[in-house]
Formats: sequence, C-alpha cells, structure tokens
Amino acid sequence: MTYQRNRSGTKSNPSPKKREHTSESELILRASKIWHRGGLVAFPTETVYGLGANALSESAIKKIYQAKGRPSDNPLIVHIGYKKDLTKYAQNIPATAKKLIQKFWPGPLTLILEKTKRVPNITTGNLNTIAIRMPNHPLALKLLRQTNLPIAAPSANLSGKPSPTHAHHVRSDFQNKIDLIIDGGPTTIGLESTVIDLTVSPPIILRPGSITPQMIEKIIGPVETIHHSQKPSKTVKSPGLKYRHYSPEAKVVLLTLPEKNAKNTEKKLLEFFQTQPTSKKKIAFLTPHPEKFPLLKKTFPQIFFNMGKTEKSFAKNLFHTFRTLDEQNYHTIYIPELHTKELGLAIMNRMHKAASKTLKI
Ligand code: TXA
Ligand code: MG
Repeated sequence: MTYQRNRSGTKSNPSPKKREHTSESELILRASKIWHRGGLVAFPTETVYGLGANALSESAIKKIYQAKGRPSDNPLIVHIGYKKDLTKYAQNIPATAKKLIQKFWPGPLTLILEKTKRVPNITTGNLNTIAIRMPNHPLALKLLRQTNLPIAAPSANLSGKPSPTHAHHVRSDFQNKIDLIIDGGPTTIGLESTVIDLTVSPPIILRPGSITPQMIEKIIGPVETIHHSQKPSKTVKSPGLKYRHYSPEAKVVLLTLPEKNAKNTEKKLLEFFQTQPTSKKKIAFLTPHPEKFPLLKKTFPQIFFNMGKTEKSFAKNLFHTFRTLDEQNYHTIYIPELHTKELGLAIMNRMHKAASKTLKI
C-alpha cells in the first residue's frame, strides 16, 4: 500500500505533482492536522473514497460543497470511529438503530437519525436529521480515531460524476484543489453505503447498497424501499434523490430484455447490435453474466468488458469501468437490465441514475 501526498505548497507555491511516499502513521497524523485546521482530506472507505472535513466546522463543510460543486441542500454523511460517539451527534435513538449497529457497524450502512445541536445545520443541509456511519476500513478507522473528530464525507467525486473507487479517480477530479489524497488502493465494495431512514415507521431505505433490504429485515422487521422508478415526492425524503448522479460522459442505455427464453434474448441482442455502427462509434456492453451471451461475445468481442463474473465483482468494477470508458472516448454503454433482488437492487438503482434512456429490445 502506498500513500501519496497531494498538496504541500501554499497558493504562491503550487505543489509539484511529485508523490511522496510517507509512512502510514505520518500520513494519519498529517490528515488529522489538516482536519483540525479545517482542510479537506480524501480517504478510502470500504464503499468508495470520501472527501472528508470536520463535520462540526461550518467553514470546513463549505469547502466540501465548493470543491464538489454540490448543491448545499444535499446533506453529507458523518463518519465516526467509535460506536460510542453516536450519542454525541444523534439523539432519541430508536431500538432499531441499536440492533442494526450491533449487526452491521462498522460497515456500509448509513443511519438517518435525529441530530443533536452540536451538529451544524450546514452539515445536514438544514435538516433536523443526521446521516451517520462507522466505515469498515482499517485505514479509515485509524484516521477517524486519530483525529477524534466526526468527519463529514460525501463521495470524493465532482458532483454528477461516478463515485471514486480508486485514488486516481479522486486525483483526476480534484488535482491540487484539496489538501491531501490518501491512497488505500481500490475500494472493495464499489457502491456507496445503504442509507436507511430510522426516524419514520416503518423505516425507509433511501439508497440501496450492499446491505440489502432482506439483510435489514432479518434484524428489525419490515422496511420500505424507494424504488428507482419512483419519482421523488415534493417533500423529498433524501435530498440526494432529486439529483442526477453517477453519469459517465458516454451515453448509458439500459436494455430491457425479453425474459424467460435465454436463446431468444441473445438472438434479439445480436439483431440489435448488428444494426449499431460499432465500427464508427465505440460501444460497450456491460453485464455481470457474460456466460449468458456466448454467441454475442463471439460475434462482437470488442463490446465486452471484463467486470468479473459475479454481481459483487460487477458492483466493485462499475464506476471504475465508467471512468475508463470515458478516458477511451466511448460513445455508448449498453447495460442489460438486471433483477432487483439482493445486490441487484443497488446495481439497478445506480444504473437508472446513470442512464439517459431505457430501450426495449
Ligand atoms: O458509502 C458512502 O456512503 C460514501 C462514503 C464516503 O462513506 N459516502 C457517500 O456520500 O456516498 P454522498 O454524500 O455521496 O451521499 C450521501 C447520501 C445523499 O444521497 C444524501 O442526500 C443522503 O445521503 N443524506 C445525507 N444526509 C441525509 C439526511 N439527513 N436525510 C436524508 N438523506 C440524507
Ligand atoms: Mg455521492
């Protein structure tokens, strides 16, 4: 594992792009100092990289919104290093929260709870609730524990871009605009955390993630899920829901396939791609199940990308592949619709947000 320093100079002395290799403990100390003086540090979590700042400092939080170009009514997730810190920032904590924390923290589950006065309104987009989680990443936990501050961290991408799963994604979005980027290698999950609102009954999953509704229901009973086809209501539950997300530059098209008959599906896909000018436009076809399309792969090998062979690996590679295809000037990314069970729900949620259209073939 290497750690890279991003910005060391002052404005009058723009930093050389040189990367310095520093020991882990030195780096953690440096990040902690930056957070204490109100700066921005990007760091890895098990889901995606976060762009972190002191959650208790209005001026530090303003820098996050500015750097990302994020609308200030879209609140941030606060990260803590110890479960016991929860009561400093959340109050009237329901029994459901306690059960979920016991089962899933540290981990990719963000809880929406009533906030305490200590948390400034800017951090929560003026809501009286807070989104809070304890990440399951050794380096993130060391950073949070060393700094001993709650760290507000949205995904470390420019607003609207795919979330970063590698440190170089963060570098490409922010270059020298933030104080430090800590490189902990690729993130393991690749999709952002599950967000669940526990201030309502039954609880509502506002953003599906790798902790699925089924896993949650086993612990606390029935929950509701906002479906990706649902238009956000006037009183938007999660402000993030109303913004377009995760879009690569390339056009993303979701393909609705005829179900049941696998052979028929592949035939339709073959016919479809035969009508596409694959020689003129760079076209990609992304699926977690390449084994379902052997003939298509034989006929159009150039449109296939290795996303691994499981839905888990597909999720892990998704945002990275979006960014790679953009770097290679791809024109259109076709993705066959997936089921919405288990991880499929989180994958389809991101797909619907990235897609400019759905095509029935
Ligand atoms: O995996 C993750 O959650 C990553 C890593 C860095 O922890 N963070 C992340 O943050 O994805 P961000 O800001 O990109 O997404 C936070 C989501 C947004 O959709 C936001 O609207 C929602 O959480 N959110 C935050 N506070 C909320 C609140 N009080 N009520 C409802 N939704 C909230
Ligand atoms: Mg985000």
